[in-house]
Amino acid sequence: MSLQTKSTPIDYQIVTQQILENKMENLGKASIREIKKLIDDIEKASGEKFVRMEMGIPGLPPTKVGVDAEIEALKKGVASVYPDIFGIQPLKIETSRFVKLFLDIDVSPEGCIPTGGSTMGSFASFITIHKCNPLKYVSLLIDPGFPLHHQQLMVLGQRFESFDVYNYRGEKLKDKLDSILSKGNISCLLYSNPNNPSWICFTERELKIIGELCSKFDVIPIEDLAYFAMDFRRDMSKPGVPPYQPTVAKYTDTYILTISSSKAFSYAGQRTSMMIISDKLFNRRYPSLKNFYSTDIFGHSVIFGTIYAICAGVSHSAQYALAAIFKAANDGKLNFVEEVKEYGEKAKIMKKLFIDNGFKIVYDKDEDEPIADGFYFTFSYPGYTGEELLKELLYYGISAISLSITGSERLEGIRACVSLVQRSQFPDLEYRLKKFNADHKNF
Ligand SMILES: Cc1ncc(COP(=O)(O)O)c(C=O)c1O
Repeated sequence: MSLQTKSTPIDYQIVTQQILENKMENLGKASIREIKKLIDDIEKASGEKFVRMEMGIPGLPPTKVGVDAEIEALKKGVASVYPDIFGIQPLKIETSRFVKLFLDIDVSPEGCIPTGGSTMGSFASFITIHKCNPLKYVSLLIDPGFPLHHQQLMVLGQRFESFDVYNYRGEKLKDKLDSILSKGNISCLLYSNPNNPSWICFTERELKIIGELCSKFDVIPIEDLAYFAMDFRRDMSKPGVPPYQPTVAKYTDTYILTISSSKAFSYAGQRTSMMIISDKLFNRRYPSLKNFYSTDIFGHSVIFGTIYAICAGVSHSAQYALAAIFKAANDGKLNFVEEVKEYGEKAKIMKKLFIDNGFKIVYDKDEDEPIADGFYFTFSYPGYTGEELLKELLYYGISAISLSITGSERLEGIRACVSLVQRSQFPDLEYRLKKFNADHKNF
């Protein structure tokens, strides 16, 4: 029986009509923002509220210490003054302390640079790294990944390769990476850890493989720590006390890290995050850089060449916010991990609701350990591709994104983001999933 003849939680005609009006013949290829607009339109037309899992917006209030510091900075008049491109001194100092206390690595304040979201950190990295060596003209994305990184490389017109890490966990990662990096044309590789969309977390063994191979083949890893310390299986909330957020920085000395304020500190709106360049990379000279910048020094080129060209610095007041947040965390006065644990707790309940109703978790293990409960999870339903499932779920008032836009090869999967789902919606979610299962299990 087709859905047309069933009563679905959201009116069949309305959903179909809105898909047509939004010209979304291929939902699976739609970007996150396109899906968001479609759901906004369906909600408006139907008067029904969706269980919205398509977009990774923080669902928590911003960290208060940041808001207070930012208000104070604004009152002092910083809004009228251009901030230095390399960042305000207190922020650089507190960031350097932060990476020591929460990652157990040493980076000089000089290499801690504010960017317009970590989005700009990766963009500035791709731009600069690409100019370091003409023989290294390909970036590698370890997927599944944040679709925007693919988009950045497309926009820049830079060549890139990617592979889905699903089949290459643990020791298998070594041969796979070796086979790609040994070609000699890879300049950098990027991955997020914890990973968006799958919430897998690389193990120390895997990070060691990545770091050592990057050193061997002179490749710069860009480690995207957008979900800093949010692998809630381990308590990484205490400054200077292990366990620390795992990082490739332990296994190579030439690296870039991006630390986003958006999720860990619920500060997405102010678009200010940090780019961390290791001391060795910061001071390294690449003769080719002189063709584009005033010097051949990497760090100098990133700041006074690339970031200057993109936006000449980032929000002055938000830098004070971030400096205050880092300081409070460093001084042990702010347990930022505790503040975002709610995501993991919601994910645990939601994953169970999906599994109890016939769904399967797609990326389910870190080597032999079950993955953590966190900001995202991936799921599938037997007999459906991710694209079909995404569309079908719209009639049940559930929205997500297809894994096919994340570089994943698990085309049966879709990604759910837990952040915007309220606990008060759990009964609705359960009802809709039960109904979905009842309507689909025999087909
Ligand atoms: C893996 C990853 N990197 C970067 C970002 C963007 O971070 P920011 O808001 O700091 O630009 C996101 C946001 O969803 C993300 O998931």
